[in-house]
Amino acid sequence: MGDPEVVKFFDTTLRDGEQSPGATMTLAEKIQVADQLVRLNVDIIEAGFPAASPGDLASVKEIAQRLRGVAVAGLARANPTDIEAAWEALREAEQPVIHVFLATSDIHLRHKLKMSNEEALQQVKAMVTYARQFCPIVEFSAEDATRSDRDYLCRIVEAAIKAGATTINIPDTVGYTLPHEYEALFYYLRERVPGIENVTLSAHCHDDLGMATANTLAAIKAGARQVEVTINGLGERAGNTAIEEVVMALHTRPESFGNVDTRIHTQELLATSQLVSRVTSIPVQPNKAVVGANAFAHEAGIHQDGMLKNRLTYEIMTPQSVGWGDTRLILGKHSGRHGLDARLRELGHKLDAEQLKSAYRRFVVMADQKKNVSDSDLIYIVESGMDTPAAI
Ligand code: KIV
Ligand code: ZN
Repeated sequence: MGDPEVVKFFDTTLRDGEQSPGATMTLAEKIQVADQLVRLNVDIIEAGFPAASPGDLASVKEIAQRLRGVAVAGLARANPTDIEAAWEALREAEQPVIHVFLATSDIHLRHKLKMSNEEALQQVKAMVTYARQFCPIVEFSAEDATRSDRDYLCRIVEAAIKAGATTINIPDTVGYTLPHEYEALFYYLRERVPGIENVTLSAHCHDDLGMATANTLAAIKAGARQVEVTINGLGERAGNTAIEEVVMALHTRPESFGNVDTRIHTQELLATSQLVSRVTSIPVQPNKAVVGANAFAHEAGIHQDGMLKNRLTYEIMTPQSVGWGDTRLILGKHSGRHGLDARLRELGHKLDAEQLKSAYRRFVVMADQKKNVSDSDLIYIVESGMDTPAAI
């Protein structure tokens, strides 16, 4: 097998992520997030939508001037004013990327843009050509691609490539597609569009049906070599594809994706998640994959017993690999004697079999009454011989 092909991570937390209700960030917060994305080692940071507001233009400009060793993208609708604003913001970036988009589905063309298919095709040609006059890297996104007529989408993609687009993005804008369909769409385009082998194909998914990660992985299987993601899956409505899920799926199940690799520093995933949660004040759900507080916590007795014998029984990746400390064995009413014994030993109490049996009996009574049995509760159980502290 030759060298692995790199799947590039295009992080859009500062653009699509910020479109999440309530997720607005100040310039200082955006810079903090951008610096952390550099530590995470993403390939491209979409810093904002410069034409959206003077504040957005200023923050994209500041980030573009500041960051080195990473590409910085700015979004633009397919019109000259937006493209000029994007270039004004990006011109001092080390690796600028102008990201031009136009909707291609009948629903968007007829109802939102009031444009014919032919007009949209001409607009794509003209605006990608225009963006290329400023910038050597131009990404074109066919908004609502997954609800677009497939043959029309082929014509649009071909026109964008001929006009000089270097990356073609196929967004599932409304989170509508299913993994097998999205995979097939990438194969369809790759088989039919002349010149497609010379550009990077990109996946951009939304999570309206909870499919964003599965769809993104399906696209990688079908040849996408860029994925557009956000931290914690932040984004419009139900959010975008969560970077932590895609990265860890590729690392945990490499055999399913052929010979691909990422440049992501996985140990930075947790710190990045926690930073984004802090600056947006949007909490991460405890059972969130990879970065949720319970992602590496085990409570059930059978699981704790398995983990104490060999962690491979119930863990498919190590907590350390994504930035957590050790696995947590939570003591609650589902826990067993082995888990209790292990925790008591950590707390300095080595009980013989009889003592453990009786401590476990008291522990179960307490655990039935309390959600979480704390370390001080355990010490109390052992030292007092009681099962119910004065205040529960
Ligand atoms: O979801 C979408 O279609 C987008 C585009 C602007 C890429 O965010
Ligand atoms: Zn989007």
